[in-house]
Amino acid sequence: MGRRTQAPPISWLMKLPLDHPSLMTGRMALQYGTTVGDPQLRRLTTDRLWQLDSSGGTRSTASLIDRRRASTVRARVGPSPRESKEIYSAERAVITSGSQQLLYMLTECLCDPGDVVLVEDPTYFVYLSIVQSHGLLCRGVRLAGDGIDLAHLEQTLKLLQRSGELQRVKMLFLVSYYQNPTGITTSFVKKVEALKMLKQFERAAGHPIYLLEDAAYRELRFAGDDVPSALAANGAGERVIYAGTYSKPFATGARVGFGILPEPLLDAVVRVKANHDFGTSNLLQQLLSRALASCRYEKHLSALRHRYARKAVAMVKAMREHFPADVLWEEPRGGLYVWARLPGSVKSGLKSKLFQSALRHGVLYVPGELCYADDPTRRKPNHEMRISFGSATEADIRAGIARLGATLRELL
Ligand SMILES: Cc1ncc(COP(=O)(O)O)c(C=O)c1O
Repeated sequence: MGRRTQAPPISWLMKLPLDHPSLMTGRMALQYGTTVGDPQLRRLTTDRLWQLDSSGGTRSTASLIDRRRASTVRARVGPSPRESKEIYSAERAVITSGSQQLLYMLTECLCDPGDVVLVEDPTYFVYLSIVQSHGLLCRGVRLAGDGIDLAHLEQTLKLLQRSGELQRVKMLFLVSYYQNPTGITTSFVKKVEALKMLKQFERAAGHPIYLLEDAAYRELRFAGDDVPSALAANGAGERVIYAGTYSKPFATGARVGFGILPEPLLDAVVRVKANHDFGTSNLLQQLLSRALASCRYEKHLSALRHRYARKAVAMVKAMREHFPADVLWEEPRGGLYVWARLPGSVKSGLKSKLFQSALRHGVLYVPGELCYADDPTRRKPNHEMRISFGSATEADIRAGIARLGATLRELL
């Protein structure tokens, strides 16, 4: 699809005023922008990412020891400062209408019907719909507490090689920070190892196998340290696609996302984007640029983090109080979700008594089964649920969890 799409004339037409400032009229923020995105926002975005990745944490929260540790890890596995400056160049960035648009366009550019995408088991369920609608197949890779199970990734790749399907494998999709739905964060070492493993299988596959890192929740951290992205790993420039968003750390209503991509993929994505919308809302991009360039973005982010941290505490406290003892979960360290595992006897799916009863009591959760890809090699678990503390007030969280707890106790 990416190869088939020609460079639409709209893209270069819209870029003309930028290349020739004398053609500019009126207030730029109220005009169309360019397909690839506002140059200042692209620069601010990649500069920020470079800072995050090279400090091993935001300046305000990383301790000196953590930063030293991060640079030691990078010294072993990461690119030289010159290489990394190139990887974080604004020229490699595209601004998108939410990161969802990037996930869609990228999948369309990279994959043909029948191709295979490796995903975490469980994964971001909205991405699974993109995969399904493009006629792609999935293989789920098990998750451990610090990201994908590398042994299972290797086993999956070997099985695909044996069955002659490796040539159809195009990428590994990781939601690497405070994962939606489980809240798990992938360690840097695992990103490095996964990237190496994909590289090893490329010869047999006969084409590149990309690592698509979806970092949607990266900045919503309220405990622990930031982890460098896969862009900081060796060989990242050619194989890592970084999908980021300003929805989560700034405003979901803005729906401004971004991608950092290897050059051939960037070109293909920008061509497809020209046919989608020939550029993300310029007004919103200007707004974000200004917020980032001033200290407003940081201030807002810090307030959001505190708010979500308080809500997470309220949710976990209510779960301890109201849920039966055999329901298990991890305390979130960032993001917007708690992933709860119920005893095997309680189903959580859309048709389950639990889901229907919760709905009647005004409580909505995401059934775990929706977050598992259709993978013929295993059955989908159906006794988990993703509970969000994002938009509800603390009082609503307490009331909702109490009602959900009462339903669970009834069913058990
Ligand atoms: C993991 C993940 N990726 C991407 C997105 C899309 O976010 P947006 O399109 O608002 O940037 C979401 C939204 O919930 C998400 O959870």
